[in-house]
Amino acid sequence: MSKPALISTGVMMPLVTRQINAAFNVYWLNEHSDWDKLFAEVGPSIEGVCTGALTNVATTADMIKKMPNLKIISNYGVGYDSIDVPAAKAQGVVITHTPEVLNEEVADMAVGLLIATVREFNYAEAYLRAGTWPQQGEFRYTASLRDRKVGMIGFGRIGKAIARRLEGFGMPISYFGRTKQDVPYPFYDDLVAMARDVDTLIAILPGGPSTQGLINKAVLEALGPRGIVINVARGSVVNEADLIAALKSRTIHSAGLDVYVGEPRINPGFLELDNVTLLPHVGSGSQFTRDKMGQLTVDNLLAYKARKPPLTPTPDTPFKGW
Ligand code: NAP
Ligand code: 8YV
Repeated sequence: MSKPALISTGVMMPLVTRQINAAFNVYWLNEHSDWDKLFAEVGPSIEGVCTGALTNVATTADMIKKMPNLKIISNYGVGYDSIDVPAAKAQGVVITHTPEVLNEEVADMAVGLLIATVREFNYAEAYLRAGTWPQQGEFRYTASLRDRKVGMIGFGRIGKAIARRLEGFGMPISYFGRTKQDVPYPFYDDLVAMARDVDTLIAILPGGPSTQGLINKAVLEALGPRGIVINVARGSVVNEADLIAALKSRTIHSAGLDVYVGEPRINPGFLELDNVTLLPHVGSGSQFTRDKMGQLTVDNLLAYKARKPPLTPTPDTPFKGW
């Protein structure tokens, strides 16, 4: 039986590479310099795409149109904002992603980043490494979680896993979203209003057009000088120029970031600040969790090959048959 043709938008982890190479005839975009030529030659034969934010390659409307027989785009990651969803929907393509299997890992990291930011772990370690401790004594006293109120921007699977941890810390929690949920926390449909009532924002919601620049100057001003912003969602949900200006002028206290516009290259303005903790998009990045995400990415593609329903289609592209 001939293998269905698949495009991978870039390098995948070995567990994924091995299995998709065995089941599909894979064209690796990272091995081709002339993508127009490649799509002209093989586009009509392509039935699947394997992608993920880690490839830093968007699956654009133009690409999707050049694959008229495309059936499935399997995304390694729960967030699929790098895929042109309207174009996929228009062509009846099912987008699958990797929800649930990473909830706890990302929540661990978000809480770790929160504590590191509030207690300034990166600056404290730099103080020790520079030999300053014996010369100047105790590191400066930092902000604390003890007198803080958290506002969750996004309260879905991962947001709730973060909230469960913060409950254990005794922190009051509110949440912002489009829909009020049946949970025992104050709900806000106005982000400025929530920012006014809390001092710590944690963003964990999808990127894309509907959340572009959500955390802006007005939100940061409402948050105020005690304010701390933790972003583990997508870089695009923050207006980065507004955030850098607020950090520089101390309109807010500090920020902890895992995600950036244009990553892996980041706005150099962040590197000049002395009140921001910066991580290189490591939210789900343990071997344990990446193995689970990788296997789910493959299993969705194998389900298509066997003409079985996909395991985890996105809510934007519900499965209606292959
Ligand atoms: P989820 O269960 O779908 O939850 C998403 C939450 O965001 C919901 O509470 C939803 O509430 C809210 N939301 C969606 N669109 C919104 C909008 N336009 N305005 C306001 N709120 C909106 O998703 P999840 O599994 O928790 O994942 C959330 C996101 O985290 C992913 O999409 C991804 O971008 C990011 N993520 C990052 C990492 C990392 O490594 N840093 C890892 C995993 C995920 P309403 O529908 O009520 O608005
Ligand atoms: C991954 C993520 O780092 O799941 C997501 O949405 O952002 C992370 O878990 C990323 O998707 C890898 O491509």
